[in-house]
Amino acid sequence: MPHTARLEKAHIQNIVANGYDFHCSRYLVLSITQADAARQFLRALLDGGWVVSATASRAAAERLKAQQRCPMGIGFTFQGLQQLQLPTVYLRAFQDRAPAFAQGAYQRAAHRLSDTGPSAAEQWDTSFRPNTAHIFLTLHADTQAELDQAQATLQQLAGPAFAPEGWTAAFQGGHLNRERKKRRIHFGYLDGLTNPLINGLHPHAAHYADLKLQPQFHAPGEFLLGHDNDEGYNRWLLSGEDEPVRQFFANGSFSVFRKMAQDTAAFESFVDKAASDAPSADYVRAKLLGRWHDGRVVDAASPNQPGPDHSPQSNAELNDFDFSTDKQGLGCPFGAHIRRMNPRADPVVPFRRRPLLRRGIPYGPAGDGADSDRGLLGLFFCASLEDQFEHLVSEWGNKNPFGVPNHSTAKDPLIGNHEGSGGQYDIPLGGGANKPLSGFTPFVTTRGTLYTLFPSLPALRVLAGPPAV
Ligand code: HEM
Repeated sequence: MPHTARLEKAHIQNIVANGYDFHCSRYLVLSITQADAARQFLRALLDGGWVVSATASRAAAERLKAQQRCPMGIGFTFQGLQQLQLPTVYLRAFQDRAPAFAQGAYQRAAHRLSDTGPSAAEQWDTSFRPNTAHIFLTLHADTQAELDQAQATLQQLAGPAFAPEGWTAAFQGGHLNRERKKRRIHFGYLDGLTNPLINGLHPHAAHYADLKLQPQFHAPGEFLLGHDNDEGYNRWLLSGEDEPVRQFFANGSFSVFRKMAQDTAAFESFVDKAASDAPSADYVRAKLLGRWHDGRVVDAASPNQPGPDHSPQSNAELNDFDFSTDKQGLGCPFGAHIRRMNPRADPVVPFRRRPLLRRGIPYGPAGDGADSDRGLLGLFFCASLEDQFEHLVSEWGNKNPFGVPNHSTAKDPLIGNHEGSGGQYDIPLGGGANKPLSGFTPFVTTRGTLYTLFPSLPALRVLAGPPAV
């Protein structure tokens, strides 16, 4: 009789459940050259407490730092699992239930991620090549020096397990400003305001009682394998499978690592041009994202400038809204990034919500100098790459936005693949009038995408053990 998994906090990787609040992250994509040494490396990580679970507090992470280590997360591509000789029964289950994971992002880029032209998979950084990307490590600390130290220790632990290029091609992320609750990303927006909450994992905080709308908690199965999702559906029920197989999937999560280069000069020039015929540059920026400079949603009650209340707001307060009161997109246009990515009770089209946990961090220097590579090291978690991440990118981000009447032809203004003319973006003004924006160019170019499984800690033990014969 198939049954759902138990939600075990101590089994879930902390990067999935909560993320880290440090200033820097380093991501490594490693290619296994010696499977036995790789398994030994995994055992050393587990024994050394590097892979922190959702029950471990920031204090546990601080303890690791004091020992020249740092908290980390770990994921495996399908090819990585093959390299580690995971038995066929497990691999088949991935092929049947998670084809996107089994095929990998490289194969799906053109059709399911709108990655064509300069964003095409063939143009991606070499780390994202499908046959050599096996293990994905995320390291988290407050300084680059701490990460250097931790990486040196890891390299020593790994010995000959991996090809040397993986260590030298590390992806270095760092927040652009150090104020933890007011972090901005390239393009100048506040980030880190929104993340979904999960039933049984995140507490119902007392201060929610003061909000107009209660935050919606999601079912664990939106993010963790083996559980029912918001629709009561569980793709990982695995009837008739052995208990160990079921256990292997339980409480794991799929991750997407997507490196996105941001052309800040092109974005600023677009905003300045559009602002010459608009209330202000801040207005244009806010209408493209859906939030003002201070993080407040662009509200139909005050569609041209932020409302009068400038008191600092908590993230819970900044998320105390939905689109049910903005039926015509007079505040937040239908095509704006946040309205597309999380339609929040949008009255126009009733559809399934497709939540994503977001743990990204910027890379490259602040500013808009043309000589530097800069952007976002996007890191997302969900239980279905097909129904969540890929659907958001290809259907909600790269097609015409929802909304009637809505004649926009532009894709998501921030992340859409604006090849060709880039289409027209309408800012509804009321009475059927629109302010049209055009002249979009590719502000964001994909430099690579990697799909991995972040297994539970017990599943990690299985991968670290001797291969089944
Ligand atoms: C360089 C590329 C990107 C930039 C500059 C960007 C920027 C932003 C900003 C500024 C926010 C608002 C801050 C917040 O709510 O925490 C946001 C929210 C969000 N973004 Fe992006 N983003 C990018 C890529 C993506 C991608 C690739 C996806 C997924 C396919 C995505 C999905 C979301 C979601 C789900 C939200 C939360 C919406 C909400 O709940 O209101 N973003 N993004």
